[in-house]
Amino acid sequence: MLDAGCGTGENALYLGSLGVSVLGVDVAETALAIARAKAADRGIKVEFAATEAFELERLGRKFDTVLDSGLFHTFDGDERPIYVASLAAVTKNNGTLYVLCFSDKGAETGPHPISQKELRAAFNPSKGWNVVTIDPNRVQTNFHDEGAPARLATIKRT
Ligand SMILES: C[S@@+](CC[C@H](N)C(=O)[O-])C[C@H]1O[C@@H](n2cnc3c(N)ncnc32)[C@H](O)[C@@H]1O
Repeated sequence: MLDAGCGTGENALYLGSLGVSVLGVDVAETALAIARAKAADRGIKVEFAATEAFELERLGRKFDTVLDSGLFHTFDGDERPIYVASLAAVTKNNGTLYVLCFSDKGAETGPHPISQKELRAAFNPSKGWNVVTIDPNRVQTNFHDEGAPARLATIKRT
């Protein structure tokens, strides 16, 4: 699977520890260096690569499963279609994309909160996506004691 915007790799490392084959990508070389050091320390086999999220097709690979934990919500309205097309280029037909993003519903929302409508507009059938579920969730941050309100979207590539 692909972890887009993997940061210092906690999700990729967790999945790798379960035996899942994972490629974590990020633009931040410093984050990737930390992720690689954690993988070596913990003895977990995960691949990490410096890659721009708007150009995922340059990986030359396609994935059954793609995870976006905290990346989609950082992009503005102009950037979203480019990122969504980039995700589409690397997700196999009938593959699954999971997007965990800040929600606009609930107390003390995080920065760049996302509505259901925005998710459905970005990942719509004309772009090759079918939103299956959008469930309430929480995301840990440095400035919320009990995490910020979030949405976990499960989206199929059509
Ligand atoms: C909020 S962090 C999330 C990190 C990790 N996925 C997690 O759940 O803890 C967002 C990550 O996306 C990366 N990022 C931001 N813009 C990016 C881009 N255009 N291409 C690739 N990665 C990007 C940042 O460097 C950062 O590591």
